[in-house]
Amino acid sequence: MKRIAVIPGDGIGPEVVREALRVIRRLQEIQDIPLEFVDFDWGAEKFLKEGITVPPGGLEMLSQQFDAILTGAFGDPRIPSNKHAEDILLGMRRGLDLYINLRPVRLLNARLTPLRDKKKEDIDFVVFRENTEGAYCGAGGFLKKGTIDEVATQEEVNTRRGVERIIVAAFEYTRANGRRRVTMADKSNVQRFGGDLWQRVFKEVASSYAEIEANHQYVDAMAMFMVLDPAQYDVIVSNNLFGDILTDVGAAIQGGLGLAASGNIHPGRVSLFEPVHGSAPPLAGKGVANPIGAILTSAMMLEYLGYQTESRMIEEAVCAAILAEETTRDLGGKLSTEQAGAAIVNRLGSN
Ligand code: NAD
Ligand code: IPM
Ligand code: MN
Repeated sequence: MKRIAVIPGDGIGPEVVREALRVIRRLQEIQDIPLEFVDFDWGAEKFLKEGITVPPGGLEMLSQQFDAILTGAFGDPRIPSNKHAEDILLGMRRGLDLYINLRPVRLLNARLTPLRDKKKEDIDFVVFRENTEGAYCGAGGFLKKGTIDEVATQEEVNTRRGVERIIVAAFEYTRANGRRRVTMADKSNVQRFGGDLWQRVFKEVASSYAEIEANHQYVDAMAMFMVLDPAQYDVIVSNNLFGDILTDVGAAIQGGLGLAASGNIHPGRVSLFEPVHGSAPPLAGKGVANPIGAILTSAMMLEYLGYQTESRMIEEAVCAAILAEETTRDLGGKLSTEQAGAAIVNRLGSN
């Protein structure tokens, strides 16, 4: 029995997670996948009511009692500091040492991309985003805050170990999945220290994978080429902040944020699965959010838990629903979140 902690979170989070769970529950009726779900109410509402983000001992409980965590999104306009999201989401990424943020970018149907004349095979790559350090380390501070002389510093941390393990993970994935090329994105022409470390480690690691082509682009150029020529990418590795930005571009070219899935992974340990999108406050409560990002995220989670067949069944059902244009508005369909979820549930196991 695998145990899954479900933290739906804020905004559209609960709406899309509900559909992902319906998909898994339906799958459990046709396949033998022993999973147990436990719900947690961590998020904006709890923080506003009780002042609690992650309850004491929460991270230890997750790492000791669960195999995976499924979340929706965290972010609420009533909490402009984003304190609860920082504690919960970044807290889990850092506290559980989930150093790989794996974000596939795959065009499931040619009509979904906003790019002209791109086919399915032109957009099919995977981003390895470093997920525990970089600009997300929370280091920095203010001097003379609130005065005209104010100074705000925002630091970035790049550790030898942190850089090496994400680059190794990208090369290992490339080898294991029969892919051919790893491209590293950085800004080493400006960020002379962190960039230098990434450059040296990348070359060193690449030399142990002779069959894999290793190349490099500055991140600004990569953002451009991702739009102009996405077919050149196979596996991308980057730091935390650049990986965040690049994967929103990646989401856009595969059809939008409503479709993009991700895993926050530490191999062999409890890992966290979440759609790439946020809480989308303007859409919340309207029943219009696209549940596919969350549903494909649950497929990634099942794959991580060892259920490859079931993971593929979800992907096939999603592709079939998209082909039939049974989708939410962001993909040109007319369905509500719940109806779009049902369109996928109804196709499970029927292809
Ligand atoms: P967002 O991803 O919530 O929304 C960006 C755009 O994408 C909006 O136009 C939104 O309508 C659209 N969109 C997003 N998800 C969609 C879906 N499932 N279906 C259809 N359209 C969708 O990003 P934002 O507006 O920059 O941020 C809103 C809040 O979410 C902020 O508080 C932010 O910090 C937070 N956020 C959280 C996460 C997370 O928890 N993983 C990720 C990103 C942003
Ligand atoms: C993401 C989000 C988060 C990030 C925010 C909400 C902290 O944008 O998961 O992509 O920056 O990592
Ligand atoms: Mn993001």
